Amino acid sequence: MNKKSLQYYYQKARKEGWALAQFNFSSAEQLKGIVEAAVALHSPLLLGTSEGDSGFVGMGQAVAMVQQYRRETKLPIFLNFDHGKSVESVRAAMEAGYDALHFDGSHLGFEENITVTKKIVRAARKKGITVIEGEFGEIPGKHSAYHRERTIEITPDQLTDPGQAKEFAKQTGVDSLAVVIGNVHGMYQENPRLDLARLQNIRKEVQCFLVLHGGSGTPERDLLSAIKIGIVKINISTELRGAFTQGLRSTLEKNPEEITPYKLFPEAVAATRKVAEQKISFFGSANRL
Ligand code: 13P
Repeated sequence: MNKKSLQYYYQKARKEGWALAQFNFSSAEQLKGIVEAAVALHSPLLLGTSEGDSGFVGMGQAVAMVQQYRRETKLPIFLNFDHGKSVESVRAAMEAGYDALHFDGSHLGFEENITVTKKIVRAARKKGITVIEGEFGEIPGKHSAYHRERTIEITPDQLTDPGQAKEFAKQTGVDSLAVVIGNVHGMYQENPRLDLARLQNIRKEVQCFLVLHGGSGTPERDLLSAIKIGIVKINISTELRGAFTQGLRSTLEKNPEEITPYKLFPEAVAATRKVAEQKISFFGSANRL
């Protein structure tokens, strides 16, 4: 069993200039494809479930499956609870045995968010959770579907303010901060460019790790630049969901009479694996065990 922590990999990533993907899943089939990719490329693996994802797959079930894959593959595999919006949901994830937590208090006022995040950090530390992610500016968009026909606009006032980021990180004691620098959840006609100058300024102000949500569809050259500036983790959900669904749809179109789950899902699993492999290679986490 690999004993290195997620902190260790964040540190290593920042020092060496690569990033971990956080792959979100809500079914055993998606998880299978993602793990296959990490095994093939000898990559440390960070998985995530949102409130919606874990509401379906089950928090205890997600933890148990991840533990089993850890035993089987001997890879460092970590499970993050993504966008926990309430103290209750974050506590449930803690109790279930998640390795890392993201409390998304962006719906709260800045001061209240700090107060609640601080409390969560304290409780999570007692449980031995080493990576707690905070967020104060809402990330625009939705990661539930492709919106290829839609456009999205970001205004400068939606972006993370470096001074506030410094204040938030210092007061809450979070290990990582989710920044808003033009990243959006989901895929659009054209996803916005990242504001890399803004990221540089945040990086100058903030000591904790910086992480990026909304990895699907973001211009690739911007992602590479963001990694060079210091982003250590990029969340991917929409692209995985899209690939999985296309794989399943293609199988059903070819075999409309098929009813056996283990014959229905292999194409969806393979399509998921392909996306995960692309991201692992592109973000540079292959062979970083
Ligand atoms: P995408 O759906 O754009 O990949 O974003 C995922 C995400 O940020 C989950 O927190």
